[in-house]
Amino acid sequence: MSDLCLPRYLTLLLMLVMMVPSAYAQRYQFTPSDRVDSLIAEMTLEEKVGQMTQVTLTAIAADGPRESGRVNLDPDKLREAILTYHVGSLFNVIDEALSLDGWRNLISEIQDVATRESRLGIPIIYGVDAVHGHNYLREGTIFPHNHGLAATFNRNLARRAGEVTGDEVLAAGTPWNFAPVLDVGRSAPWPRFYETFGEDVYVTSEMGREVIVGMQRSGRVAATMKHYLGYSAPDVPRDRAPANLTERQIREHFLPPFQKAIDAGAMTIMVNSGDIDAEPVHASRYWLTDVLRDELGFEGVIVSDWEDVIFLHTRHKIAPTLKDAVRMSVEAGLDMSMTPSDYDFAVYLAELVREGIIPESRIDESVRRILKLKEDLGLFDNAYPDTAAPELVATEASREAARLAARESITLLSNDGVLPLDRGARVLVTGPAASSLSALAGGWSYIWQGHDDALFPQGTPTFIDAVRTMASDVTYVAGADFSEEIDIDAAARAAADVDVAVIAVGESGYAEWMGDIRDLTLPDAQLRLIEAVQATGTPTVIVLAQGRPRIIHPYADQANAVVMAYWPGTEGAHAIADVLYGEYSPSGKLPFTYPRHPNALDTYDYKFNQDFGSPSYERTTGLLDPQYEFGHGLSYTTFAYDQLLVPSSVPAGGAFEVAVRVTNTGDRPGREAVLVFSRQHYASLVPYMQRLRAFDKIELQPGESTVVRFQLSTDDLRFATRDGRMVLEPGMFDIMVGGLTATFEVVE
Ligand code: NOJ
Repeated sequence: MSDLCLPRYLTLLLMLVMMVPSAYAQRYQFTPSDRVDSLIAEMTLEEKVGQMTQVTLTAIAADGPRESGRVNLDPDKLREAILTYHVGSLFNVIDEALSLDGWRNLISEIQDVATRESRLGIPIIYGVDAVHGHNYLREGTIFPHNHGLAATFNRNLARRAGEVTGDEVLAAGTPWNFAPVLDVGRSAPWPRFYETFGEDVYVTSEMGREVIVGMQRSGRVAATMKHYLGYSAPDVPRDRAPANLTERQIREHFLPPFQKAIDAGAMTIMVNSGDIDAEPVHASRYWLTDVLRDELGFEGVIVSDWEDVIFLHTRHKIAPTLKDAVRMSVEAGLDMSMTPSDYDFAVYLAELVREGIIPESRIDESVRRILKLKEDLGLFDNAYPDTAAPELVATEASREAARLAARESITLLSNDGVLPLDRGARVLVTGPAASSLSALAGGWSYIWQGHDDALFPQGTPTFIDAVRTMASDVTYVAGADFSEEIDIDAAARAAADVDVAVIAVGESGYAEWMGDIRDLTLPDAQLRLIEAVQATGTPTVIVLAQGRPRIIHPYADQANAVVMAYWPGTEGAHAIADVLYGEYSPSGKLPFTYPRHPNALDTYDYKFNQDFGSPSYERTTGLLDPQYEFGHGLSYTTFAYDQLLVPSSVPAGGAFEVAVRVTNTGDRPGREAVLVFSRQHYASLVPYMQRLRAFDKIELQPGESTVVRFQLSTDDLRFATRDGRMVLEPGMFDIMVGGLTATFEVVE
């Protein structure tokens, strides 16, 4: 080989190495096991249906007062669950997070009964919702919620968040984690929007995969893809409202993250509580078996969501009796029911088998998967929390990871030059998010709703605490609560006397339906506070700490800077202050469209025919005039894009490279998320204006340039047809990157 060929040879080699999946990024495969087979041969029917039953901690807890951070078990209820009903799994907390010791004692007590007192010694698999770090562990590391993590557009940070979470759930002895959410956030008011990676299916797929691979890296933790399928785009933007999605929409916008997660080794999946086009997913053989098992090739455990088998009877009204509900869910393909408080599921299931309605072989299939999951996680060898393992909880390194993720998520939405702040400037800090820990960590933080600041570790800094570490001339006036005025006049008076007023507004924690709202607009009291402070003429910076994009029009336009903090977690206060004072040059970009008007909730990837071709009309409707666009985010430096290169024609089925040069044209180092969009000119179904196809995060020194290369395939340009096939239609396409456009043709 000549020297000239070497770089090309090395590039090819590198590409090959990158294509080999890492040891943890392989599909989770069910492999036969002698231990599991011999257990199944020995198990009674009751023991089998018990394995398919999961109950919440409350069902085995003692009544009465308990020490904070610990749970006292009721020995009779514990034995009833494990020895009488043979449950396979327990989960959850009672009200609030447990301490590390609390978890370890709890799990040990449970495993003592399961492994030493039960006839077959089958360990329990314990599940938790550690959805942004181990938020149910007192000492746990709390990361930004997913909508903020997505804003980093940094796969490494998502991987690291997964790793830290995995380490901490393992240390606590709770190896089954009900995360990450892979629902795509297509509905901004939806109360679980913050649990999503935003509105784009590709970002969700990429970030979701990284979290899962990180979380499962020890081989002893199971991630849960949730909530399969179609949960996040209800017809009305409320939790668990029906979703009238078509097969095409599902395939285009909601299914791909699950496919990618399955291919990356996700071990379990949780079912959507709602329905798709009037068919509750828990009773859908089509979605749970035909698609999930037969088409996507998922071989792990399918668990229901909370009470959802019962809801087939009581809420969805498709099952005339509870017993019918049990039958329907198992016939559809469910492996385990999160009942979550009683044992009716197990009782009815055993009856159905005895009556010959459900064959025992069908039960064996699920039990085999559940036992295999326990075996693969090493629970048969050691069901107890691994106290001998090096301490993995809340280390310096894990807190640093959370802080890096928080910093990199912060998104500078507008700035007329007021930021970064001078440390010598006289600053007023006002607004409800300034003194609230809940407004930093959001839902699922120490408690389901995340709204109790008293539960946060002592010394967790609020935003005002963090600002005070940066500057000395800082005044704080509350101004308003999240929905009530407090002392708006006092805030305005104080604003008149400072160089800049920072108004921290947004939402305190909520989760699931308790976060349903009827108006996406930021509550009046907060808007009035902003208005009063802006009326003083003092420059204003609005900081938004919130789980979804609350409408702030017209105050955003009048602010000198707007900073989106999402719900950045317990390291978030310093992360925001670092950005405000220029310790860190912001690099987050919005993973969703920030609406300006309540009825203009278009996503960035709207269809050609939504645009009537009349810009003034489109601006009136809001379509072309969101408050901030998907992918928008400023920095303290500037980046210029040029030399966009795409081949002029690509054969259908072929690979191609998109290259673009990016230059840091400012005077500070900075990070930039480079986003690659495509658009098809004509297709047999109305094409999208743009679709994100690739992204990367780079870092450049002042004056430095780099060519960023993306390897794409024409498969990335496919779209879903009405019958759910993904097809490529050759023709003309655009690639858009950083304001540049290149046109190319895909040929037969
Ligand atoms: C209901 C929620 O929908 C789900 O996300 C969660 O994992 C379960 N409850 C368990 O807490």
